[in-house]
Amino acid sequence: MIPSVLPTYARAPLTFVKGEGSWLIEADGRRFLDLGAGIAVNVLGHANPTLVAALNEQASALWHVSNLYNIPQQQALADKLVDATFADTVFFTNSGTEACELAVKMARKYWYEKGAPERVNIITFDGSFHGRSAAGIAAAGSEKMTKGFGPLLPGFVHLTFGDLDGVTNAIDAETAAILIEPIQGEGGIRPVPDAELKALRQICDDTGILLILDEVQCGVARTGKLFAHEWANVTPDIMMVAKGIGGGFPLGAVLATEEAAAGMTTGTHGSTYGGNPLACAVGCAVMDTVNTPEFLADVNRKAGMLRQKLEGLIAAHPDVFEEVRGTGLMLGLKCKALNADVVAASYANELLVVPAADNVIRLLPALNITDEDLAEAVTRLDHAAMAVAKG
Ligand SMILES: Cc1ncc(COP(=O)(O)O)c(C=O)c1O
Repeated sequence: MIPSVLPTYARAPLTFVKGEGSWLIEADGRRFLDLGAGIAVNVLGHANPTLVAALNEQASALWHVSNLYNIPQQQALADKLVDATFADTVFFTNSGTEACELAVKMARKYWYEKGAPERVNIITFDGSFHGRSAAGIAAAGSEKMTKGFGPLLPGFVHLTFGDLDGVTNAIDAETAAILIEPIQGEGGIRPVPDAELKALRQICDDTGILLILDEVQCGVARTGKLFAHEWANVTPDIMMVAKGIGGGFPLGAVLATEEAAAGMTTGTHGSTYGGNPLACAVGCAVMDTVNTPEFLADVNRKAGMLRQKLEGLIAAHPDVFEEVRGTGLMLGLKCKALNADVVAASYANELLVVPAADNVIRLLPALNITDEDLAEAVTRLDHAAMAVAKG
């Protein structure tokens, strides 16, 4: 008989009942050190007092009114994002997937309004992940995600990750945009080198097509800058954000320049819940906390420390680990052993890490994790690696 919850997830046999900072407490009382943070979501850890207070205060005042009316918390968060980034305007969603949907619509509408309605194609890359909606799976294009779900939404051109020549060759009179994650998350923590992101920006400038960055996983201070593209000193035309921006409360956003958003006039897009008071109250508290030079400097300091310890771990376990990659606190350990075995051995050591493609385990801790907890996580990974090596 089919389970009462649709069985689309391969869940670990763990049930967490409480969270405290970087720790999750299992129903049986065991304390797990959380280096997954809900897949790069809980940027300020679990039950963060500032976020709890923001949510409680809003919850006792007003939950939901719909976008029929002004929502001051939404306005405040949009202002913060516009002040802090390249963007002139923001649309709020409930998830990264919905942000992807709007980014695609926005790029196509941009060209439609410019008198080039034939420009509908969006260039994407293998290993990418943009969500599980019809547009999201068509954008990623992998067989794993698309098989059985056809006919797929047309208008995506799939290239090999890192193939810059391919991008130049693929651009034609029907190209609308390039869509890329500055660091692939699900794809196995595969960073796009700064020079490549710069080159993509240049290609877009030369041809007029739009650059859409998916910062759903790598954004919101995760890499030690507010957004990952800042490392390359380039800006997108459109950016997808989610995960960290809500600190654990469902919230996403599309940020855009005035030019790129020009087609999105009244009535062209909407959402019942997107930008609701609860989500935006929390989003404002997240932004106020992470978007300070001190916070970002601390992320970078801890990232350096973690990376160094991980290099030591690789040296100590050359049969288990191969390489560390990523930026800031978005790190991936490419495994020589099976990544699923390393994840299982980590669970056995009460440590949560997240598997990704390319035989990688992801380390995506809360950005305010303590130095002690980071050191403890590496100790537990060391024990996990010993167990894996023994077989
Ligand atoms: C880069 C990227 N884009 C989009 C998504 C989809 O976001 P959501 O699961 O919030 O719909 C994800 C989720 O993992 C992601 O990592």
